[in-house]
Formats: sequence, structure tokens, C-alpha cells
Amino acid sequence: MSAGSPGGSRREGASERPKITVRSIREMKARKERIVAMTAYDYPTARLADEAGVDLILVGDSLGMVVLGYESTIPVTMAEMMHHVRAVVRAEPRALVVADLPFASFQTGPEDAVRNSARFIKRGAEAVKLEGGRRILPQVDAILAADIPVLGHLGLTPQSVHAFGGYKVQGKTKSAAEALVDDALALEHAGVFAIVLEGIPRELGGEVSRALTIPTIGIGAGAECDGQVLVLHDLIGLSFGKPAKFVRRYADVGGTIRDAISAFRDDVRAGRYPNASESYASGATPDGAPEPGPGPASNPAPKISAKTSCES
Ligand code: KIV
Repeated sequence: MSAGSPGGSRREGASERPKITVRSIREMKARKERIVAMTAYDYPTARLADEAGVDLILVGDSLGMVVLGYESTIPVTMAEMMHHVRAVVRAEPRALVVADLPFASFQTGPEDAVRNSARFIKRGAEAVKLEGGRRILPQVDAILAADIPVLGHLGLTPQSVHAFGGYKVQGKTKSAAEALVDDALALEHAGVFAIVLEGIPRELGGEVSRALTIPTIGIGAGAECDGQVLVLHDLIGLSFGKPAKFVRRYADVGGTIRDAISAFRDDVRAGRYPNASESYASGATPDGAPEPGPGPASNPAPKISAKTSCES
């Protein structure tokens, strides 16, 4: 392992703004401040999202598709979620950290819902998200009764992909739209601090947002939601396949990574890597100074620890 892993305290260069809580998220709606939410699944992306100033980091079960290569979110386990929640929490974000309850971790009943939510909270998450409306109210009530804040999730809830018969926009008929509004009101009444609205017509996104006093956070739910969330890998161009209609790509990180690796491949094959300054000399340097430690000049040598011990 080389320099920069993980490297430096979060506080270096981090914003001095106060920690975001569920209360701050709720208050943003009253102040008409749009909420910026983002998925992150590991230490570097959580740290970068936080340094960019997002309000809420969601360790979403979308990690099953974007970083673990599953076809859907259905196979994602609690063990996998816990692994990623721990990595995100190590970045000590000022953003609120919300952990997503994966399929079968809460549908099986309130006891499972509380036990699994508590596992996330013990690892440093500050709230949990679960998909569904009135049908999962017993689970929502039980989690809230354990003093664990809940983020709701309605609309095209991916864990219901088989019931929906595919990833189809929800709430398009009058009765489906009314049912979704009723679900949102029921969740608000139960005490969730905000609701993600995914894959619904923009008019319905606006209607739900106006009907609630708690914020809505949209993903494919139009501009009238109180905030927006995107899957980080979609936003930075690090996912494969055709992006959904609502995705705006702000970068081509996939292309940048491919180009960098190709350049490394070419340098290795042509004998251009490593050069003299990228390798160690035997004995002392000409002026008698000790040989510098590991790490490029632009990235000061970290303290050698078990994690960087490949330099022996
Ligand atoms: O898992 C996830 O990333 C999500 C967002 C798409 C809201 O649920």
C-alpha cells in the first residue's frame, strides 16, 4: 500500500460548518433551502462528498449494483451494508449519514427492522432508510420507538422490482398517485424526518412536496422536491450501461480511470515506469541525508504503519 491511505485527519481542509442532523434537514424545508443528498459507499467518496458540502450521505443499497456488480439491489445483505457503512463513517462526515435497510432486513417484521437498524446506528450511521408506505408502518413505528430516525422512500422503490414487473415509473394513474400521497402523509404522521421520492411524475413530486411539512428528496421525481439525491457513480460517470433519464453526468471518471490505467500499462510495457526518482537507491543519498520515506514528493511520506508496511 502506498501513501494517502487513508491519510490525514478529516478536519484538514474540511468545512467548519456544524454537523448536520435530522433536525437541520427538516429545518431546511422551512427555510426553503434545497437539500443536496448523495450516495457514498466508501471512505474516499464519503470524504469527497463531504468536502464538496453535501447535506446528506446515503449509504444506499444501490451499492449492490454500482460497486458489487449485482443485477439488482435484491441480493444485498446486511453484512455487505455494514462493511460499507463502517467505511463511510470513518470519513467522519459533517453530512448526515443515512444507512439503507436492504431487502429482507425489515420486510420480515418490526423486530428484524429494529435489530438491523440498531446495528447500523451502533456502527455510526445517524438514521436509516427503508422502502415502502403504509404496509411497513409497524416497522417504521418500531424503529422510531427505538429513537432511530427514519428516512422514508416511496415511488419506484427498487426492492419491489419484481412486484412492479421492472423498473417502471410509479404513480402515473390517478389512484396510484392518490395512494402515494396517502403513503407519504402516513409516513409523515408516523414521524419520519424526510421522504425520498423515486421515479414518479414531476407533477406528483410537487404535489407530495406541497402536502408535507417534512422535506422530500427526489430522484427522478422532478424539480419541485425539497432536495435531490443521485447515485454518485451515475453523477461522475463511473457506472456502466445507459443512465436513467433523470441522471445528469457531471464528469467522466470512468474514462479518466481507463486512460490513466492505459498510460500506466504503456509505460510499464515500454520500460518507462518506474524511473530513477520513482525507485530507491542503496545506502545513503550523496549529501548524506537519509533516503526519503515512501510516497511521492507531492504527497509527504505517511507514518509507516501496518497499512503501509510494504516498504520494508
Ligand atoms: O440505494 C440508493 O442509492 C437509493 C437512492 C437511489 C435513493 O435508495
